[in-house]
Amino acid sequence: MKGIITAGGNGTRLLPLTKVTNKHLLPVYNRPMIYYPLFTLIKAGIRDIMIVSGAGHAGHFLELLGSGVQFGVRLSYAVQEEAGGIAQALGLAADFADDEKVVVILGDNIFEGQQQINAAALAFAEQTTGAKIFLKEVTDAQRFGVAEIVGDRIVGIEEKPAEPKTNLAVTGLYMYDHEVFTIIKNLKPSGRGELEITDVNNAYIERGTMTFQVLDGDWTDAGTFDSLLKANNLAATKLQETGDLK
Ligand code: DAU
Repeated sequence: MKGIITAGGNGTRLLPLTKVTNKHLLPVYNRPMIYYPLFTLIKAGIRDIMIVSGAGHAGHFLELLGSGVQFGVRLSYAVQEEAGGIAQALGLAADFADDEKVVVILGDNIFEGQQQINAAALAFAEQTTGAKIFLKEVTDAQRFGVAEIVGDRIVGIEEKPAEPKTNLAVTGLYMYDHEVFTIIKNLKPSGRGELEITDVNNAYIERGTMTFQVLDGDWTDAGTFDSLLKANNLAATKLQETGDLK
């Protein structure tokens, strides 16, 4: 399986922090933000990883992370010219994925509970088709993609609903078979003009091939001032304590 980190976007919710640098290069406790999703993939056994970033800062990612040899992995880079959505960023990795299944992680997502992720990646590597997403109970579900569950089935995801049907946020970790790239090719831009990862996930749900797990470990994004603070605290306390970043 190959890994893909989406690290483009404009980071406007963090201005002025993101005026001259990219969100994923900002510090989260003692490391640049992108180290966290990168390490999540590496620890899950992924050795071939593409980083998709925006045009203005692509060179900085290369300078920071290089070939990946320092981490024992191979890193590739792609440039998303404009912030056309997470699914568009993922679509740029189609050739890189080369018929393999992919593990996709958003560049501003920080996960505790590595063991559950490792086990899921191992299981997904054995699975022939379909997709898997990871949900987390939150108190501010309207900020996220929100899953609707009936019995033990996921029946739909709403992107940032004003009135969430559940408190289960869709986290930024996704596992897909190669069909994901066909789905992306057929996507239409959303109301906000982006190719939405939620539309990709709903396509798998409609096909009946989406599975999910609820995460036990802590999780946060880091795209707002409050969540960036939460990310710093999570990294400084739980991740350091559990040695998750060594
Ligand atoms: O954090 C989880 C949430 O991430 C999910 O619950 C939502 O369903 C999903 O849409 C996403 O929501 P956000 O609105 O918070 O995503 P954001 O625009 O912050 O993008 C997430 C990452 O993807 C970000 O670190 C940068 C990258 N990105 C984003 C866009 C819009 C790209 O690489 N290219 C893009 O065009």
